[in-house]
Order: sequence, then C-alpha cells, then structure tokens
Amino acid sequence: MTADELKKQAAARALELVRPGMKLGLGTGSTAKHFVDLLGARVVAGLDVICVATSEATQAQALSLNIPMSTLDDTPELDLTIDGADETDPQLRLIKGGGAALLREKIVAAASARMIVIADDGKLVERLGRFPLPIEVVPFGLEATRRAVAEAVGAAGAAGELILRRDAAGAPVVTDGGHLLLDAHLGAIARPELLAQALNAVPGVVEHGLFIGLASGAILAGPGGLKLLGAIE
Ligand code: A5P
Repeated sequence: MTADELKKQAAARALELVRPGMKLGLGTGSTAKHFVDLLGARVVAGLDVICVATSEATQAQALSLNIPMSTLDDTPELDLTIDGADETDPQLRLIKGGGAALLREKIVAAASARMIVIADDGKLVERLGRFPLPIEVVPFGLEATRRAVAEAVGAAGAAGELILRRDAAGAPVVTDGGHLLLDAHLGAIARPELLAQALNAVPGVVEHGLFIGLASGAILAGPGGLKLLGAIE
C-alpha cells in the first residue's frame, strides 16, 4: 500500500467522527486534502456541517466541493478539527508547518474543542525533531530575528541550522499571513515545551510548529492497520 493510500485510510476513519451540525476545522496538506475530498462527498449527499479552513489552499478546495465555509470571526468555537502533521510523538506533541500553514492551523486547533491528527504511521517518532521545525517570522529584521532564534534554540538545549524556506524557483516562501519561514534542522528536540516557550519569547517570531497540548488524538495508518493514539471518540 502506498503512503498516499495510507493517508486516505486515516482520513476515512476521521470522517466517522463527523456528526450532522458540527462546526469543523479543516487542516492543510496531502492527508487533510483526502479528508476534505471525502467530506465533500458527504456534503453532496446531504450532510449538514459548517467549516473553517486553515489555509487559502484548503479554503479553495472546500469551496470547489460546495462545502459550507465560515470564518473564526463568525464561528469562533469549533467542535472538531481534523489536520495532518509532520511528526507526532507518543504524547501527541506535534511538529507542523511543513505545508507553511502552521499559524492558521494553530489558531484553528486552539479554537476547537478537539483536534484529531491524521497521518501515515511514518509520522510517529519517539522524539520530535527529525523533521525540521518550521518557525514563522515577520520579514522585518529577518537576520536579527534569526540570531535571536538561534540563541533561544541553544538556551533550550537544542542546536542546528536555521534555513530560510524557499520555493522551487529560489524565492522565499511567503505564508498566507505574509510571513517567512525559518526551518530549524535540530535532529532531536530533548525538551519541546522549553523550546516552545523560548521561541514564543523572541520578538519577530509569529508562531512555531510545535503543537503541544492541542491534539486530543491521532489516527495513524500503517500497513498493519490503523493505530489510534489518545482519545478519538
Ligand atoms: C501544513 O502546514 C502542515 O502542518 C501539514 O499538516 C503537514 O505538513 C502534513 O502534511 P501531509 O499530510 O502532506 O504529510
């Protein structure tokens, strides 16, 4: 089975959590895209839900499927968010932002009573950090912010290169919020909570991809079947 088929399996299991009348957060990335496709088919069949997207890409996909969309201004409290992740550890601490949507993803997750992660089981790691940690920064003062981020990373007991994310043409990637991304190649993050606190304190850092205390469960699909972490129902 391909990784994409596994992602679709996880998305299909998450669809079983959706009830009529729910207010849903829709994630970003290839796994979340499967969920939105499946949800769209249910909406066509008559399911009544209202959704908030975590990115312009997901918003466009959902609208193309005629999924009723709202905003956090009009719908500030959500029942359930279904989103992918770049890594999860067994305690449901996540790295997110590989798809550049971490800021809206974190805001939407924080506005949701529950956030369920969907992924192939290759995303499950004992220790976070093999995937480069995305850090969203404002363009103003980039080099000064990069140095302050490096200091914060060191103070939290981690180390590694901070690389400005660029697109295939070599231009800096600009997020939906108009910010830039520094990818921190840390290898392993011994103390994620400490690092999250340290990054939160750096002026110029808008948000970072450590999601701690936000996911209530994860549906991980592997060749041997589905593995559930935390509380799913
Ligand atoms: C988007 O910014 C990320 O947080 C995604 O959720 C993450 O990159 C997972 O993407 P895939 O489902 O494509 O692996």
